[in-house]
Amino acid sequence: MGLMAFHPLFLQWLPLLLLLLPILCLFLLKQKNTQKKIPNLPPRPPTLPIIGNLHQIGGKAPHHSLWKLSQKYGPIMLLKLGQVPTLVISSSEMAKEVLKTHDHQCCSRPPTEGSRRLSYNFLDVTFSPYSDYWSKMRKICVSELLSSARVRSYRLLRKQEMTRFINLVSEASPNAINLSENVCSLIGTIVRRIGCGGTQFECGKPEDAIKEAMTMLGSFSAADFFPSFGWIVDVLTGFHARREKCFRDFDQFFQRVLDEHLDPSRPIPEHEDIIDVMIQLSEDQSIAGGLTKDHIKAVLMNVFLGGINTSAITIVWAMTELSRNPPVMKKLQAEIRTCVGKKAMVEESDIENLHYLKLVVKETLRLHPPAVLLLPHETMVQCKIGGYDVHPKTRIHVNAWAINRDPRNWKEPEEFIPERFENGCIDFKGQHFEFLTFGAGRRICPGLVMGTTNVEFVLANLLYCFDWGLPSGMKIEDISLEEEGTFTVYRKLPLYLVPIKLAGLEG
Ligand code: HEM
Repeated sequence: MGLMAFHPLFLQWLPLLLLLLPILCLFLLKQKNTQKKIPNLPPRPPTLPIIGNLHQIGGKAPHHSLWKLSQKYGPIMLLKLGQVPTLVISSSEMAKEVLKTHDHQCCSRPPTEGSRRLSYNFLDVTFSPYSDYWSKMRKICVSELLSSARVRSYRLLRKQEMTRFINLVSEASPNAINLSENVCSLIGTIVRRIGCGGTQFECGKPEDAIKEAMTMLGSFSAADFFPSFGWIVDVLTGFHARREKCFRDFDQFFQRVLDEHLDPSRPIPEHEDIIDVMIQLSEDQSIAGGLTKDHIKAVLMNVFLGGINTSAITIVWAMTELSRNPPVMKKLQAEIRTCVGKKAMVEESDIENLHYLKLVVKETLRLHPPAVLLLPHETMVQCKIGGYDVHPKTRIHVNAWAINRDPRNWKEPEEFIPERFENGCIDFKGQHFEFLTFGAGRRICPGLVMGTTNVEFVLANLLYCFDWGLPSGMKIEDISLEEEGTFTVYRKLPLYLVPIKLAGLEG
């Protein structure tokens, strides 16, 4: 009865319709799946052919350009830098997603040309956080080489170098000195002695070599943005040759240092340096079996590159901000001088009582993080960050500079106010994502203790032993805050200050 109700034409076409039905269903299903697969990518500024968004991060301060772009596109945005998809993070909430919630997916490092070469091609050691070697080396660094106990063990060495430095500045007093250059040299010597004892760097001053290495690491090599053809540009511009020379200089130095340390006739050293410790560790199969000379050199390279510039930059910014804010400088000097009393210099044991000094260092690190974009991270797998899809092998820059001065988290963010840390709630140790100077998560700086120890000790002594004035004719408003650098950002102009030796100190 039912079938009889249909039009005969319908019955004629029914077999064909029945045949088409599964095909139609399959088509609709595929359509649905394809729609599902369209990724929900983070907001993206429009790109230009070939260069993508490279033109938008040009200039001398990419962290400024990226911050301005983030004002328009939001705290998580996706750029195409040449051929490389790059995620830029500009808020504490998004930084927490990358460095905590999805840390296990975002903690690789992109094998950029500079870092590949300068880390002796140990991509497994440096880049992949899940390789046995990475965990082993990180553990050795954190618990053996840069631990609080090890850092404390270098206090005599720091004292010797600081004494030399105080004498040098005293001789210059009351003429203006180039504090940027001198502090860099002081920290360079301290870190070199910690790293490899007394061996001198042959190719010029170590700080110049470090500066060159930082430039090589920080300068955006064409191959990093155009992996398929950029190397040709690097060769033609001479960039490749310059990087190779820089690497060779360091390598020869490290080889010489290693040979000296392995020479059986070497006298017992006054201090055990990092090479001594690593050689001992390499003999213990259970801790560091398979550790080769190149691994030791790669660790040394990391210590040199990570440890010198960052601390020197921080001390120079602290002295810059203190010179711009005389009441803060006076308050700090009063604390140090009252607490320490009459001595030749501040001892490291005094530092723990210098509460205001720690606030000043914190405020300096907030306003002037030396690694403005941390070090680049890279995603290892597909993940969802802030609700957006992020593909594997996406480079990530966390704009620590912008986050550290985000007005949503900080009152008067551009002002230098150490008192803001008085209640002790916020720290830079990786728990507070509004203060990211050392990063957070698996990749947090392993040299945090050594860095802050060096900065606090040098700064305390500079302010205890001397009063500081501006060179004649210079006013507070003339003190420049101009920055330079891409990888680590420092004061563009050297800081000249006039030291006045304090009468009445012992020694
Ligand atoms: C004021 C001083 C310092 C600052 C502000 C600083 C900052 C940083 C930052 C931001 C990172 C990257 C974190 C990330 O990508 O998430 C880093 C990594 C690193 N730092 Fe430091 N650092 C300082 C001192 C030191 C010192 C003294 C050493 C060693 C002697 C050191 C060794 C390293 C190493 C080896 C890494 C790479 C870690 C990795 O890739 O897993 N740093 N540092």
